[in-house]
Formats: sequence, structure tokens, C-alpha cells
Amino acid sequence: MSSILEADEEGVKLAASEIKAGRLVAFPTETVYGLGANGLNGEAVLNIFKVKGRPSDNPLILHIANKNDVKLLASDIPEYVYELIDKFWPGPLTVVLKAKDIIPKEVRAGLDTVGIRFPVNKIARDIIKSSGVPIAAPSANISGRPSPTNFEDCYNDLKDKDISVVRGGSTDIGIESTVLLCTDYPPRILRPGKVTAEDIAKLIGACDDFMESEAVEEAPRSPGQKYGHYMAKKKTILLDMLPGLADEVLYKINPNATFILSRDNRFEDENKIVLAKYDDPLEASKRYFHALRKADNMPGELIVVQAYSKEGIGKALFNRMIKSASGNVMEDVDEDWIW
Ligand code: TXA
Ligand code: MG
Repeated sequence: MSSILEADEEGVKLAASEIKAGRLVAFPTETVYGLGANGLNGEAVLNIFKVKGRPSDNPLILHIANKNDVKLLASDIPEYVYELIDKFWPGPLTVVLKAKDIIPKEVRAGLDTVGIRFPVNKIARDIIKSSGVPIAAPSANISGRPSPTNFEDCYNDLKDKDISVVRGGSTDIGIESTVLLCTDYPPRILRPGKVTAEDIAKLIGACDDFMESEAVEEAPRSPGQKYGHYMAKKKTILLDMLPGLADEVLYKINPNATFILSRDNRFEDENKIVLAKYDDPLEASKRYFHALRKADNMPGELIVVQAYSKEGIGKALFNRMIKSASGNVMEDVDEDWIW
């Protein structure tokens, strides 16, 4: 059985000593819970892949708690990266840079680059500081499942794994950090998140945005893009259409489905999970992954997700929605809709 650590001074100390000893600790960040190990210990990192069932060619992010540590881990850092981290760190931005030799190949999954992030969550920062090493941490879900955004979802995935899980409450943002490839100028978004291409371009002049259509071809650059992700256990489809139309067709698809709505509609229904009352992608993002897990425990065999605004963090939320529907996206009314 996994053990539970409280998010107090003693819990943080225990978590840090587990990390130092080469064992795994799941802990909250402001985005999602992470499954951490000493990022300088290849064997400990290997265990993350085993516990998650993660493909070995998908690299991990190193978490630090001091901006200057980026220089210890990466080389050839472009000047603009310092501007980015001055503004967005601590926070939900991961920069991918040329890796220094001290970083084990297990973290990089064989690439010559490494992703680095300084989380803002205080529990995460305290654990990193107290362990004295960069912490390698993917999202703390079993591979393919939605990332955990609260302690219960995290513990449920990992309770049989003989690790430690920190009871840290719900995460603020609810979807993972923006992953930004910074080996050239302009940088390029490999995974969209709360920090957007516009935010970055405003600061440093330019930024290549994430293109959903190119993501599959980009697989070698961002290995995580090619695997099944964020999936509920039930079949899931995504409605990407104007809200009025979506409201109309929603219940024609399959009245027994569970509906996950980005924005509430006018129907009373026990089978609906509402992510936000109005158009509020920040609020919807916070709730989406947990909604998928909840929908698995509701009646019916199908989950229908209704997308809405793709502005700001909405673009990242839409990316997670497409993936959780395994590409089953309906953009128009289709007479053959029978599931
Ligand atoms: O918010 C987050 O980023 C969370 C929390 C725990 O920090 N972590 C997270 O890690 O989402 P993970 O492993 O679930 O996703 C990391 C993503 C993957 O898509 C991976 O392929 C990509 O970042 N990535 C990591 N290192 C990379 C590198 N060197 N080059 C390209 N992509 C990289
Ligand atoms: Mg993940």
C-alpha cells in the first residue's frame, strides 16, 4: 500500500527524505499532481516509468525551486529564456533547453534536451527545496488516464504502488504546464497550457503556437503527443460546434450518456457535469480531468463532452478534450449519429 503524507512541515520533511533515498513521492503542483523522484538518480527515475506504465521514450520535466538552477541543468540558454522565466516563473511554463551531461538519460528519454519548470505551489516548492535536488515528475496518473487534480484522484491511481502521496488538496489550474521548445528563436509551443503563445510573443517578440493538426507529425519533437492521453474508461466523444447547435443535438446523440459541459445549458439533467456556469475556460480547465473520472462512475456507457471557448487557456483545454475523446470530434450535425 502507498502511504499518505500530510502537507505540513513534517510531511514535507518526510517527502524530501523519500526523494533523497531514491523513492517516489506524489505531490501537488499548481497544475496537476506530479509523481516525483530524484532527477539526478537514473534508477529512481526509471521507477517512475514502471509505476506509471509510461512508454520509455517520453521524457520527464525537472522541477526546481530556484531560477538560477536552470544554469546548472541546461547549456546554451538563449537570452530570451531569462526574460521568460523572470516573468512566468514560478508558474505553469516548462522550458525545453539543451541538457547538461549531469542529467541522466532516463529523464531525457534519450533526447539531448530537457524540460525544466519552477512550480509556484508552496508544497511542491518546499519539497524540492528540502530534498536539495531537481525533482523529475510527470503527471501522477497511470499512463493514459486523466491527470490527477486532487488528492483522492491521485491516491486512487497510485494506492497499490508502495509509494508516498502527499495530501495537498485541489490544484489551482487543473491542466498541465505549457511546454515551450527554446533551443531556437522564436520558441515553439509543444503542449499548450495557461501561458499562451500571445503571452510569450508579447514579452519576447514572437512565438510559434501549437498547431493541433501538426501535433501528430511533431511526435519526434514532443514524444508525449503520440500516446493515448487523458482518457476516461468509457468511450468519449467531443462536440465542437456552436453552443446553440450543440445544446440542440446533445440529447439526440444518446440520452443515456453522461454530458460534460464547458458551459451550462438550460436543461435539467442528472447526467450532466457542468464545468462552468458561463463561458469561463479558466474555471472549466480546473474541473475537466476530475469530471472525466466522475463520469466513469455515473450510469451509461458513453461520455459526451461539449467544447466551448478556445481563447487563452481554452486552447489548452480543447487540446486535452480532443485527446480524451481519442480524436472522436463531431463538428457538424450528422444524420448517422447513433451510438
Ligand atoms: O504541469 C506539468 O507540466 C505537470 C506537473 C507535474 O509539473 N507535469 C507533466 O508532466 O505534465 P508529463 O510528463 O505528464 O508531461 C510532460 C510533457 C510530455 O508531453 C513530454 O513529452 C514533454 O512534456 N517533454 C518533456 N521533456 C521534453 C523534452 N526534452 N522535449 C520535448 N518534450 C518534452
Ligand atoms: Mg502526463
